[in-house]
Amino acid sequence: MKVILVTGGAGFIGANFVHHQFKNTDHKIVNLDKLTYAGNPENLAALNGETRHVFVKGDIGDRALVDTLLAEHQPDMIVNFAAESHVDRSIHGPEDFIQTNVVGTFHLLEATRAFWNGLTEDRKTAFRFLHISTDEVYGSLTADAPAFSETNPYAPNSPYSASKASSDHLVRAYHHTYGLPTLTTNCSNNYGPFQFPEKLIPLLIMNALQGKALPIYGDGQNIRDWLFVQDHCSAIAAVLEKGKVGEVYNVGGNYEKTNLEIVHTVCAILDELVPDSPYRPHNELITYVKDRPGHDRRYAIDPSKIASEIGWQPAETFESGIRKTVTWYLENRAWVDNIANGSYQNWISKNYEAR
Ligand code: NAD
Ligand code: TYD
Repeated sequence: MKVILVTGGAGFIGANFVHHQFKNTDHKIVNLDKLTYAGNPENLAALNGETRHVFVKGDIGDRALVDTLLAEHQPDMIVNFAAESHVDRSIHGPEDFIQTNVVGTFHLLEATRAFWNGLTEDRKTAFRFLHISTDEVYGSLTADAPAFSETNPYAPNSPYSASKASSDHLVRAYHHTYGLPTLTTNCSNNYGPFQFPEKLIPLLIMNALQGKALPIYGDGQNIRDWLFVQDHCSAIAAVLEKGKVGEVYNVGGNYEKTNLEIVHTVCAILDELVPDSPYRPHNELITYVKDRPGHDRRYAIDPSKIASEIGWQPAETFESGIRKTVTWYLENRAWVDNIANGSYQNWISKNYEAR
């Protein structure tokens, strides 16, 4: 039985990945998560009582804790999801982003390096540290520019993407300097079950169901490249298994959509799936609001390297993935209601009232 240490595994993608690993491997999964506002133990409720999943509340930047965890559980691989992840929050308050994404990743790398140095040669060679990053590190594309490939220069534009870029550089340096067997994936926008409703798609679903405004920043023509979260999880698993150490893999689904296309799609699915909603047609709730400062115009991923070198392809189309996502939010109203607590309301007032 292999041991995998997942950081940030109570958040959106991390929790989906923990479930993916639980289902598709016999690994023991050690899950280190600080449980910030974005970390939700309910995302892992289905694993309660399962001895193959060990949850530890803690910070990736807590060197003593990470040292102890590594010594105790002897992981064969580490997948680092832990991060502050929301661009708008990084604009209101960048410090947490520097602390977790940069300093936290640094401490995690240092602890990993010390642990890895003490392994036998066989285990050292087989060990993997996979860092989960974002396409946002490459900056913004013009309408007709080619999609981001792994060789695009970094040009981060928000405190969030700058902090992720810094962590990517640290990971790269730990491979180059110390030989740590790292891998990095830079993925496009994810959507799917368990996404915290500060991000566009779950926010739209939640607001529409309550007849609240659907806030679209600026002209709604910003483009993102959307990937169903379970496809991201299968990509991560494939890179862990087949990726070449020291390499970077861009992950995306080739589904570029404007924000307006997204909101119209979500509204049309809700019109169909909630025929007795008093708010139909839901697209009448669309409201243009003041743009995000420094709002990147377009992201797009060229996934040809992961396709040709690793053989990964997404299983979902955007149409099938978005339908599954809306259905999941409709079927999990208790999860949604439990999230809509005081701190969530404070964030909504902070981000939207002044717009
Ligand atoms: P999320 O905000 O939903 O979850 C982040 C998790 O990390 C939370 O459970 C939180 O409690 C935990 N965490 C935060 N600080 C921590 C710390 N110091 N120590 C331990 N745990 C900590 O984020 P997500 O959307 O699941 O993103 C996960 C990773 O994937 C991030 O690194 C993000 O940059 C990257 N990513 C996200 C997307 C996306 O569309 N969501 C796309 C590409 C890459
Ligand atoms: P988001 O989900 O925050 O992801 P990211 O900024 O990391 O791409 O936003 C996706 C897109 O949706 C982005 O162009 C900003 C836009 N957006 C809105 O128009 N309204 C909103 O309320 C939010 C949260 C995002």
